[in-house]
Amino acid sequence: MKVTVVGAGNVGATCADVLAQREIANEIVLLDIKEGFAEGKALDIWQTAPINLYDSRTTGSTNDYSKTADSDVVVITSGLPRKPGMSRDDLIATNAGIVKTVTENIAKYSPNAIIIIVSNPLDVMTYCAYLSAKFDSKKVFGMAGVLDTARYRAFLATELNVSPKDIQAILMGGHGDTMVPLPRYTTVSGIPVTELIAADKLDEIIERTKFGGGEIVKLLGTSAWYAPGAAAAQMVEAIVRDQKRIFPVCAWLQGEYGFNDIYLGVPVVLGKNGIEKIIELDLNAAEKELLKESAVAVKGVMDVLDNMNVTNA
Ligand code: NAI
Ligand code: 2OP
Repeated sequence: MKVTVVGAGNVGATCADVLAQREIANEIVLLDIKEGFAEGKALDIWQTAPINLYDSRTTGSTNDYSKTADSDVVVITSGLPRKPGMSRDDLIATNAGIVKTVTENIAKYSPNAIIIIVSNPLDVMTYCAYLSAKFDSKKVFGMAGVLDTARYRAFLATELNVSPKDIQAILMGGHGDTMVPLPRYTTVSGIPVTELIAADKLDEIIERTKFGGGEIVKLLGTSAWYAPGAAAAQMVEAIVRDQKRIFPVCAWLQGEYGFNDIYLGVPVVLGKNGIEKIIELDLNAAEKELLKESAVAVKGVMDVLDNMNVTNA
């Protein structure tokens, strides 16, 4: 299996490292536009192989897409974080330009690849990649829910003082403060979480989850990378090992949950064909309302991209 990670920055390099350490792919290519950067990161990762005793080979490339040819899965992390003075629309325009060029190159050299987008703003960059790749939507989707759910589960594990392994949860919606964590679908080894935690404490954890990305930015001055890189690698693993895992994934909806032509976080089955099924939960009225609010927010950002005509240029 060959996996390419575009963007050898914090998230991309971490993802490549997890893929290598866990032997998720035997060939991993890191690509970046910055001269020598991906080669340097790849060499450093490869030099951990004799120490950590694995075989996966990581190589780097400065913008030479021929090195990525015939990848089975591609993770796109290239893009700028928002800088002071930059409006949200500026960020969309800049990152959409990057994601469009990268995706077109990937589609040219790896026409059968499954593409996972990580670049922000996540939901709209996934839409941008879908328009640029012209692949089946089941093969172009975004990573956000695995990370957001991991944050929610980690906060619950700390609060309950139990193993994070035993916390199962799902959340839906866009990657931002309108995301919809679902306490009704959260269990601790099968026990409904609501039986183990006071309602006000659970509400606090849900709020903290919604702003989990911002909490790390405040602490570090840049966004997170360990959990995002590991989350993207976990999605790659589900695909290359055909695990049929159920994850919240930013997926193209055509009627599911009553939405059309929108990328939104929903539970899906991930396997060798990419998104093999979108699972439709029987949401109650309050949950449906929250999901609708999130969809309206995401659609607003997708409209900004549409009005920029970046993907037609
Ligand atoms: P970073 O700045 O460390 O790395 C980004 C890399 O992309 C840089 O090395 C840069 O040279 C490269 N790049 C820029 N233009 C390129 C191009 N045209 N072709 C190839 N490479 C190019 O940033 P970091 O922390 O790795 O974050 C990457 C992206 O992921 C950001 O947009 C960030 O907001 C997003 N992110 C998304 C998360 C999610 O849950 N979906 C979580 C964390 C970050
Ligand atoms: C995160 O959630 C900023 O999307 C990034 O960490």
